[in-house]
Amino acid sequence: MAAIEKGVYTKLAEIYDEVMSEVDYDLWADYIDALMLQHHPDPKKIMELACGTGSLALSLDELECYEIWGTDMSSQMIEKARLKNKLRMCNATFSVMDFLDITMSEKFDVVFAVFDSINYLHTTDEVLRFLSECKKLLTPQSLLIFDFTTPINSEEAISYLHNEQGITNNNFRFYRSSRYNKEEQIHVNEFQIQQLAEDGKTILKEFRETHRQKIYTLRQMHDIIAQTDYEIKAQYDGFEFDEAHDESLRITMVLQCPSIQS
Ligand SMILES: C[S@@+](CC[C@H](N)C(=O)[O-])C[C@H]1O[C@@H](n2cnc3c(N)ncnc32)[C@H](O)[C@@H]1O
Repeated sequence: MAAIEKGVYTKLAEIYDEVMSEVDYDLWADYIDALMLQHHPDPKKIMELACGTGSLALSLDELECYEIWGTDMSSQMIEKARLKNKLRMCNATFSVMDFLDITMSEKFDVVFAVFDSINYLHTTDEVLRFLSECKKLLTPQSLLIFDFTTPINSEEAISYLHNEQGITNNNFRFYRSSRYNKEEQIHVNEFQIQQLAEDGKTILKEFRETHRQKIYTLRQMHDIIAQTDYEIKAQYDGFEFDEAHDESLRITMVLQCPSIQS
């Protein structure tokens, strides 16, 4: 059922945290925490979809206010999240799950998916399917929070994402090339990942992953949500509490579905 291509986030799991080392997940967790408190009277039980290696879920767990469950389609990413959960002595639960095929019936106060994960859904039908599947986890009071990046963000991001390279502490060398097709609104990141021997030079294995993301405007996202019975409680610009607008680079949506059967 997954919209994402096979093999994506398999080898990248080995180096994901280093590639993302400049992302401040503690700050992001504070933002999600503030959003939840703003829009829900008593958020306790929360589910992160597409949690990756669990960095955000673990930062939220360390606030000691939530019972948190993280899920992701990639077993390799979840393996890393479980390891970090143990090392950081956290209490989050992690499991493998495709958010287009939600298999649990438990309900959560807040369900969220961040860091462009929704941009892996390439068609209106896939986003509609995501919104429909999420209902399995929600009550009429629950919040569904997700972010997405916009065409302006992709146009700007090319300058720092394209031709990025680095060597990780666990002896992987990576190259990233990045391109954006304006007409199709498709952003492609290609990763070439080389596993090096202890001498730091000899290449033991080489892998490639191609990540294709559909980039949405605010208006396109509105048109999709309008086809559902979700209500938009808020839409925020970046990591602020200001209203999202046509020039926003990243938009965080806060939805609720009061018509869900509880
Ligand atoms: C950009 S990463 C973000 C990971 C994490 N949220 C973070 O902030 O670091 C996108 C994640 O979405 C996950 N993903 C993509 N499609 C998915 C799907 N259909 N179901 C569950 N996870 C999915 C990928 O496996 C990957 O871990």
